[in-house]
Amino acid sequence: MSHELRTPLNAIIGFSDIIRTSALGESDPRYREYAHDIYESGQHLLDLVSDVLDLSRLNTGDIEIHKEPVSVAAIFDSCKRMYAHRADKLGLRLKFSTPDDLPPLHADMLRVRQVLYNLMDNAMKFTSAGGIIEVLARENKDGAIAIEIHDNGIGIAKEHHDLIFEKFGQVRDSIDHSHEGVGVGIGLALCRRFLELHGGTLTLKSALGEGTSITLLFPPAENA
Ligand SMILES: Nc1ncnc2c1ncn2[C@@H]1O[C@H](COP(=O)(O)OP(=O)(O)OP(=O)(O)O)[C@@H](O)[C@H]1O
Ligand SMILES: [Mg+2]
Repeated sequence: MSHELRTPLNAIIGFSDIIRTSALGESDPRYREYAHDIYESGQHLLDLVSDVLDLSRLNTGDIEIHKEPVSVAAIFDSCKRMYAHRADKLGLRLKFSTPDDLPPLHADMLRVRQVLYNLMDNAMKFTSAGGIIEVLARENKDGAIAIEIHDNGIGIAKEHHDLIFEKFGQVRDSIDHSHEGVGVGIGLALCRRFLELHGGTLTLKSALGEGTSITLLFPPAENA
C-alpha cells in the first residue's frame, strides 16, 4: 500500500517542483505535460483513498445504498467515454451491449458506476494488447438484471479464486503482468460488498490463460 501511495505522490511533488521553480525556463511545452501527469496522479490517489475509506466504512456499516431507477445504457455510455482513450492506447477493444428493452436497474447509480469502473480497471490491467473486453447486460426470466464483464486476459488460477476477494488479496504473478498501476487489492472486495448491499451477488468465472468473466446479479425490482 505504501508504494501505491508514494509513487503518485512523488510524481506530484517532482513535477510540480519543476513547474514551481521554472526549472526548464520561463515557458516550455513540457510544463503542460507535467500538469497533466500531476492531474492523473492526483486522480489516481483520490480513487485509491476513496476506495480505502469506503471499505472501512462498509466494515462499520456506515454506508447506505440509495436505490433509484438507473439506465444501464447510460452507465455503459459513461464507461465508454471514460475508457475509450485508455483502451486505444493499450490496444484493447471494448464492446458494450444492452438489449433495447432492458428495464431500469433499481440500484444506487454512483455505486454501480464505482463497481463497473473497478472491474473495467481490472480487465484493462490484466489483458494484453490485442485483447477484447466485453460488457453486456441482460434480464433474467425472474426479472433480475445481470451485468457481465468479460475479458480474454491472463485469467486467474482456481486456487486464487478466494484470495482475490479478500482485502489486499492479489496474485503476485498477475501483478508482474500488469502494465498499469498495480493497485492495492481492495477493488474486488469492495465490489462484492456493494453488490451484497444491493441484495445481489458478484460471481467470478476465470481460468488461467483463458480470461475472466464477472457477473453482477441485481435482484428483480419488486425485491430490490
Ligand atoms: N480481470 C482480471 N484478470 C486477471 N486477474 C484479475 C482480474 N481482476 C482481478 N484479478 C486479480 O485479482 C486481484 C485482486 O483484484 P482487485 O481489483 O481486488 O485488486 P487490484 O486491482 O490488484 O488493486 P485495486 O483494485 O485495489 O486497485 C488482482 O491483483 C489480480 O491478481
Ligand atoms: Mg482492481
